[in-house]
Amino acid sequence: MPDNRADAPFRTIIEPFRIHSVEPLRMTTRAERGEHLREASYNLFQLRAEHVLIDLLTDSGTGAMSRDQWAAIQHGDESYAGSPSWFVFVDAVRELFPYEHVIPVHQGRAAERILFSALGGPGRIVPSNTHFDTTRANVEATGATAVDLVVAEGHDPVSEHPFKGNVDLDALEALLAAHADDVPCVMVTVTNNSGGGQPVSLENLRGVRKICEHYGKPLFLDACRFAENAWFIREREAGQGERDVADIVREMAALADGMTMSAKKDPMGNIGGWLAMNDDELARVCRTQLILTEGFPTYGGLAGRDLEALAQGLKEVVQHDYLRYRIRSTAYLGDALHERGIPVLRPIGGHAVYLDARRLAPHLEPLQYPGQSVAVALYEAGGIRSCEIGSVMFGRHPDGSEVPAAMELVRLAIPRRTYTQSHIDYVIEVCERVAENAAALPGYRITDEPPALRHFTAGFAPIA
Ligand code: F0G
Repeated sequence: MPDNRADAPFRTIIEPFRIHSVEPLRMTTRAERGEHLREASYNLFQLRAEHVLIDLLTDSGTGAMSRDQWAAIQHGDESYAGSPSWFVFVDAVRELFPYEHVIPVHQGRAAERILFSALGGPGRIVPSNTHFDTTRANVEATGATAVDLVVAEGHDPVSEHPFKGNVDLDALEALLAAHADDVPCVMVTVTNNSGGGQPVSLENLRGVRKICEHYGKPLFLDACRFAENAWFIREREAGQGERDVADIVREMAALADGMTMSAKKDPMGNIGGWLAMNDDELARVCRTQLILTEGFPTYGGLAGRDLEALAQGLKEVVQHDYLRYRIRSTAYLGDALHERGIPVLRPIGGHAVYLDARRLAPHLEPLQYPGQSVAVALYEAGGIRSCEIGSVMFGRHPDGSEVPAAMELVRLAIPRRTYTQSHIDYVIEVCERVAENAAALPGYRITDEPPALRHFTAGFAPIA
């Protein structure tokens, strides 16, 4: 064997950790799952988690914490004001996101509610690449309009564009040219969750920044999956391949004026979030809101131990070995499905694989909810819980009308550091079985729904 071969990297990318504490998984029979589905009115959010075998509903708050995070929890100081844990937390946040003001909250949507209570209101327009459902709901709850301006490739499930989360800069420019007075800020979601976990390039962020500067508008990142986005930049953007991910994150932060954050994603927390910004006056208004509903500005609805766990998680998530494994393990699932001819949104995103239910079940009309049908089938066949991201989630509009969503996706979100390769091999097998029988999948109708965010609580019934 030549010398250079001896030093070549191995093909298998392993989990860069070993297991320290385990949780049992619960097996159920198909008949039991059928019963659980009926009890849950075919809404997977209404299942009891014990009845789920592999839970890919979300990557939010479901990751495994590290030994060092559990150790950090022991340092939690529960002082109401000025806790040492607060300073550990704020230093860790500022190491990556050096904004003037960091306002802790219990999760991302609290940051959104506070921000849009200050910036939203009737007649206002908030553009983004794609608003996440809670972001959209918080914008709309103030009477403002949430507008999605992702590039055209972002709506094309087969396009291999490397940065399908990018903002359509021409569309943003046109919106601001026509309505600058109504736009209080611009949002960019990194990675673009509702558009398939697709990244946004630095070049695109620079372009957004330039437009925002021209119109004097602050730019806010919805930064839940900032580290995954930065890893994609390192892998895919010209000239970025040698950079430290933490450095790329700081550049992303510097291009914006503030951020909303759900620390249940990349910061490896089970709960937490923050709102950050440079604007003193906006921070003052937001802190007042914070005290009304979340808590004092040095804990914001979190325990001191949560702040400690998040500070440690922020250090771990920018490690290259972790991110290489993370992005590769998501692609492992997505590529396996793709190779078996199962339609998935391409390229594979950072935190999730998105099945394209429109292509998997073309016999179903969008308003027969093909994504819901596939998600129910995955649970019934193999106990896998996934999440519809399609016309159930986005079809109902504030004026009461129902319009099919741009895509009918089923998200298989991968909790961080939680499942092993054999769990994922099982998921692949279940998906194969569901795909083989897709022509027989029933459509669904909604039997009852709440006025907003209907996907969480709506009831469904299969169409006979
Ligand atoms: N923004 C994005 C891009 C998100 O993905 C989420 C949550 C939020 C904001 C809200 O954060 O849940 O802490 O209040 N996404 C989860 C998901 C729920 O499953 O994708 P939160």
